[in-house]
Amino acid sequence: MTDPALQRLERLWQELCHHDKLYHTDDTPIISDAEYDTLKAEALALARQHPEAPFAQNILSAIGHKLKDGFAKIRHRKAMLSLDNAFSDDDVAAWFERMARFLGMEDQPEAFACMAEPKVDGLSLSVRYEHGKLISAATRGDGAEGEDVTANIRTLRDIPVMLQNAPDVLEVRGEIYMNRHDFINLNEEEAKKGKKTFANPRNAAAGSLRQLDTLITAQRPLKFFAYALGDVSDKIATTQSDLRAALKNFGFTLNEPAQLCRSAQDLHAYYNNIMLMRADLAFEIDGVVYKLNNIALQERLGFVSRSPRWAIAHKFPPQQGETRLKKISIQVGRTGALTPVAELEPIGIGGVMVSRASLHNEDEIMRKDIREQDIVTIQRAGDVIPQIVRVVKHAEDSHIFQFPTRCPACGSHAVRDEDEAVRRCTGGLICPAQAKERLIHFVSRNAFDIDGMGGKSIEEFFDLGWINDPSDLFLLEEKHEATLVERKGWDVLSAQKLFAAIRAKKRITLERFIYALGIRRIGEANAKLLARHYLSWQKLREQMLLAQTADSEAWRDLESIERMGETIAQEVIEFFAEPQNQALLNRLELILTIEDAKPASQDGLLAGKTIVFTGTLTKMRRPEAKARAEILGAKVAGSVSKKTDYVVAGADAGSKLSDAHALGVKILSEDEWLKMAEG
Ligand code: IVH
Repeated sequence: MTDPALQRLERLWQELCHHDKLYHTDDTPIISDAEYDTLKAEALALARQHPEAPFAQNILSAIGHKLKDGFAKIRHRKAMLSLDNAFSDDDVAAWFERMARFLGMEDQPEAFACMAEPKVDGLSLSVRYEHGKLISAATRGDGAEGEDVTANIRTLRDIPVMLQNAPDVLEVRGEIYMNRHDFINLNEEEAKKGKKTFANPRNAAAGSLRQLDTLITAQRPLKFFAYALGDVSDKIATTQSDLRAALKNFGFTLNEPAQLCRSAQDLHAYYNNIMLMRADLAFEIDGVVYKLNNIALQERLGFVSRSPRWAIAHKFPPQQGETRLKKISIQVGRTGALTPVAELEPIGIGGVMVSRASLHNEDEIMRKDIREQDIVTIQRAGDVIPQIVRVVKHAEDSHIFQFPTRCPACGSHAVRDEDEAVRRCTGGLICPAQAKERLIHFVSRNAFDIDGMGGKSIEEFFDLGWINDPSDLFLLEEKHEATLVERKGWDVLSAQKLFAAIRAKKRITLERFIYALGIRRIGEANAKLLARHYLSWQKLREQMLLAQTADSEAWRDLESIERMGETIAQEVIEFFAEPQNQALLNRLELILTIEDAKPASQDGLLAGKTIVFTGTLTKMRRPEAKARAEILGAKVAGSVSKKTDYVVAGADAGSKLSDAHALGVKILSEDEWLKMAEG
């Protein structure tokens, strides 16, 4: 090989291999991360220019890919969860009490030792290894499905590509982040090139990871901390501290300083200590995380909604700043709620520019006497929308803010129910603001999740009169393709991409579909409850019509779903009864394939069974019993009906037990239930 470029390529490949070994296997790196990144970037660029060269393919397949059509999706075998937040020592104490109560272990405080770690402000990632080899890596996405960023994370040094002595399947979870000084340097360089800078290290990390060209990711100083496991074929630890040790042995970096805490005092001291160290840490943190050390207890505690019961994030107090409130504007939401928003003189708080803040509702504005042109104190905590804490000074000649009594979008009366804080537009289906918001909700991430379709395009198509309700989305291609490609900001390619994204979503799960309808009070959790209860769309629709007759079997069945209750049930029934909604549902049914839901667990011991617990249980507390039944595939209902399969009766059971007798439902004692639950 005489070409100097090819010689250089071979040399670079050898050097990279050498440094990888020093770093991962020997733990004695001899060059800095920045120097390594420079070598890697040079190697990739050269390999791209000379793909035919002997070592180019090694380099390209190790680290260099260009994706043409965006990221593929990866389904997480085990859902990627979020954490519940605690904002005070009292919240932390309440968390301990909840765990102890759930497990019935109030008298064993020593069992609740916790691992405390910094809460890194980045984005979570799941890396899958099979037989010790890195197979794939995915972002969290909606928790069930994330983006395939395998090619990109192969460029990260913190993520080993091979593991020694790992179980057949091992998913390692952790946080992708950027150090503060790397973030500042990156922004300076981007600014020099005349490019847009990032608002904070978190955004910089997210933007750098989600690059279609891995060459760009390879040049970005991304890092990774490992802190948890996903899907695994064999257990590798019995405590959180052993888990950390095992991850470290595999070659991962851990978030430090972490500490095993044996009491509330230990946790308190750790929290205060980290808060003092916060400014000196190389990376941004927004709090600390406590995880129950005993993994067997973690497994018993399980999850509620999207968070584990065995871990909690103890957040740092919010950061504040003062600025001028330029204007109070009113937004109209999907259900007609008028929400006031503060338009602010932009101000940097904790590294983020803030130009809008939430004002909640008119009572809040009155209570704090917030007026346009006031100087106000703003606070920002983590990801939540910034808020106005108080007025520092009214402007001269300021006026008390008059909350509108008409909808700013359609002019209809906006009224307040006696027991509600919210004022609502009465325009219903004629209000364009509500219609737009319903459409935006319909295409949003946890609903139809249509790539490339967001607030801006909905606004555009709605204003053109192309989309009035969700069914029009699916006619967009047929009716408006020719005009769309001519419009500013669109071309053949972008239009085709959008149409493909819409077509791909003609098949949809039942729970997403229910959520997408935007029925008041039916968020994701309730949509899931409904889907799991009725299992098919036809069944749900048929039952909702039958349930319109008060006190019908269908009505009682709907209300018996745990956590549903009368108010929510009423909203659902009203939605299905409304003729305009019926017409929309008829149109959507013709276009869509709505997949049946799976019962909580199809192969569980109690799959398809409905259980009601009543009376006092002594060996396993009610919440644990309920969680256990659900894991085994059962539905847990709040009241007894003909559809109930078992009533588990503890001590002093009352009317539910007599209902069970009257309806001839099988009654189990607590011991019989435990035997059944243990299989
Ligand atoms: S554990 C099932 N540990 O915070 C437990 N998460 O607000 C999963 N995070 O989604 C998370 N530092 O992205 C864990 N030391 C840490 C963390 C951490 C940051 C992130 C993570 C999670 C989010 C929840």
